[in-house]
Amino acid sequence: MSRPLRIALTKGRLEKDTLGLLESLGYDCEMVRNKGRRLILPIPNGNMEVVLAKAADVITYVEHGVCDLGVVGKDTIMEMQGKFYELLDLGFGRCKFALAVKKGTDFYNGFSVKTIATKYPNVARAFFESKGMDIDVVKIEGSVELAPLLELSDGIVDIVETGTTLKENGLEVYEDVCKISARLIANTVSMKLRQTEIEMLTTNIERYFAEHSHN
Ligand code: PRP
Repeated sequence: MSRPLRIALTKGRLEKDTLGLLESLGYDCEMVRNKGRRLILPIPNGNMEVVLAKAADVITYVEHGVCDLGVVGKDTIMEMQGKFYELLDLGFGRCKFALAVKKGTDFYNGFSVKTIATKYPNVARAFFESKGMDIDVVKIEGSVELAPLLELSDGIVDIVETGTTLKENGLEVYEDVCKISARLIANTVSMKLRQTEIEMLTTNIERYFAEHSHN
């Protein structure tokens, strides 16, 4: 028998919802839930195994074909792009990309080139390019909210989920960029070689969504 169908899951925020979905479809995720420090876990009642990775690495593993499938946020997909298929919107991990500023700032006022701090330079550039607007981008690794507070930037392009982080730091959304949610992605070769197994999974997911009025 060929190796199990390998699915890379984004650790952290998306992990619980992904396992919940797999369990709703009947997959036994007990070993994944009790993983300890293990990173590759079998799903004993399906010819499938789970690889736990950081979001950007999920894309890397799927692109290289060492994982057939991946669950990753649209935010990481937009930032990294790459060669893979995006099969399904999984509906969870919902949040948005937004341009945020210090409360009361009129971002578009004035003619000076604005500086944007972000963990997502490609997304930020594409957003302002679509407006024909020239900006400087400063890449920040985390807690981007600090940049405008420290006056390093005029604004940030970042993920907003509940809005609490912005609120508690005196920032506000100035403009929405786009909606984000978790996606199922697939390696392009796996789509041919393991088409039946992958289609079985996606059909099961779609049926489950239809039965539970997913929107
Ligand atoms: C994300 C994002 C915001 C926060 C938004 O950061 O960069 O800081 O979540 O969530 P909220 O709207 O619910 O407050 P994350 O927690 O992933 O940490 P990081 O900044 O270290 O990447």
